[in-house]
Amino acid sequence: MTFKGVLNADTGKGTISRHIYGHFSEHLGRCIYEGIWVGEDSPIPNTNGIRNDVVKALKKIKIPVLRWPGGCFADEYHWKDGIGPKEGRKRMINTHWGGVVENNHFGTHEFMQLCAQLGCEPYINGNVGSGTVQEISEWVEYLTFGGVSPMAELRVQNGRKEPWKVTYFGVGNENWGCGGNMRPEYYADLYRRYQTYVRDYDGNKIHRIACGPNSDDYNWTDVLVREAGRYMDSITLHYYTLPNDSWEDKGAATGFDEKAWFVTLKKALKMDELITRHSTIMDKYDPERRVGLIVDEWGTWYNVEPGTNPGFLYQQNTIRDALVAGLTLNIFHKHNHRVRMANIAQTVNVLQAVILTEGKKMVLTPTYHVFDMYKVHQDAELLELSLDAGSYKLDDSEIPAVSATASRDAEGLIHISFCNLQHQAEAKVVIDLRGLAFDGLKIEGSTLAGEKIDAHNTFEQPDAVVPQPFNAFGLENGKLSVTLPAMSVTALELKTE
Ligand code: AHR
Repeated sequence: MTFKGVLNADTGKGTISRHIYGHFSEHLGRCIYEGIWVGEDSPIPNTNGIRNDVVKALKKIKIPVLRWPGGCFADEYHWKDGIGPKEGRKRMINTHWGGVVENNHFGTHEFMQLCAQLGCEPYINGNVGSGTVQEISEWVEYLTFGGVSPMAELRVQNGRKEPWKVTYFGVGNENWGCGGNMRPEYYADLYRRYQTYVRDYDGNKIHRIACGPNSDDYNWTDVLVREAGRYMDSITLHYYTLPNDSWEDKGAATGFDEKAWFVTLKKALKMDELITRHSTIMDKYDPERRVGLIVDEWGTWYNVEPGTNPGFLYQQNTIRDALVAGLTLNIFHKHNHRVRMANIAQTVNVLQAVILTEGKKMVLTPTYHVFDMYKVHQDAELLELSLDAGSYKLDDSEIPAVSATASRDAEGLIHISFCNLQHQAEAKVVIDLRGLAFDGLKIEGSTLAGEKIDAHNTFEQPDAVVPQPFNAFGLENGKLSVTLPAMSVTALELKTE
């Protein structure tokens, strides 16, 4: 089957914010502890306690922003427990996630050190559910105030003279659920109050983020933006992709059939509808689109790997996850006028992780490779690409067969990324290239494809699913034809001379 499209290479549709490629790391399972933080005395190579291999891998994909410390953990976290000499830090039970002991060895200084090593911006999520206004206000003062004040002095005592730069601050997490089971009217008032004390010190401008809806809770968005929209810079959206409709049996990460493949992709595609509908509500109160939508938790959520702690949310990651990542990033690009940031959940060892670790071993997942292939779109100009996406049918249901996006970067290189959602069929795409010169046009490609439906990387076989050079394309009469393998994410770079 041939899918036809038109790329208008001279029609820009706005910048794709690099922050769409953000990540989320919570004190959950082995994400922070083991996955990122191993401590200064660990035999695992580290810099100031932070794993070197993980930092190197995340820098390669140009991680732009990292959200921390949760998640549900954020609304139980009291930041003062995580500063000062480590041996004196409080130990507590991580009640949400596995009931394990949290020793608070990874706290504010360690997180800011991590961001410095990664060269990324910090996005700190404050505690509204069980924390006070004073706590939030003092945390911001501790982080960003350079003058004379109790918190600035405490920071200096703890070894950090200069204030840090903190760009993003979240006022609560999932306050409709684990963050306090609030009603939107109540949270809207609390948000207005708490954000008042998230101060901008010394020229540090904080982007204030309100806790937005759970997937299709449109009432939450309506009430919150109506009542508190003028006090926020962005509102969040959380949406997870579960193959099954049950939280008790979400579906397996590997060993699934075509039905589970299809349903998972169909559910991931729902992100488009969610963003469209939440944006439409926001348009009512904010037609200028001053307030951004931040999808700060997204990704697949399966049953945990057999034999692992159910509270640790550790799951494998296959070519199916790569397709979910690719098509979701394509959706975020399309909504670049409202979606200013997104944070995949979660960076290491939890949910749709880009990295898995086991002791000193590390493996990069298929999702990692999609982030690597797509990094060229960060801060690039979205281009107008219309494509007949065809249809992939299973039983009485159908989804698009192909999803694609295109952008032009600062050097003038055009990048087109394709996802072939079909389990077994190749897809031939023919794109009419308009608005660019063909003389001397050079094209290079790479593809990430699965040999089987649940192809994945393991510690024994870390390179089972990695990008391969791709040359199944041709140029004729101003048309680019590409043959996409089944179950693949493919990237093309077009260079004109
Ligand atoms: O990412 C795992 C959890 O999912 C987060 O802690 C919470 O915010 C969401 O429900």
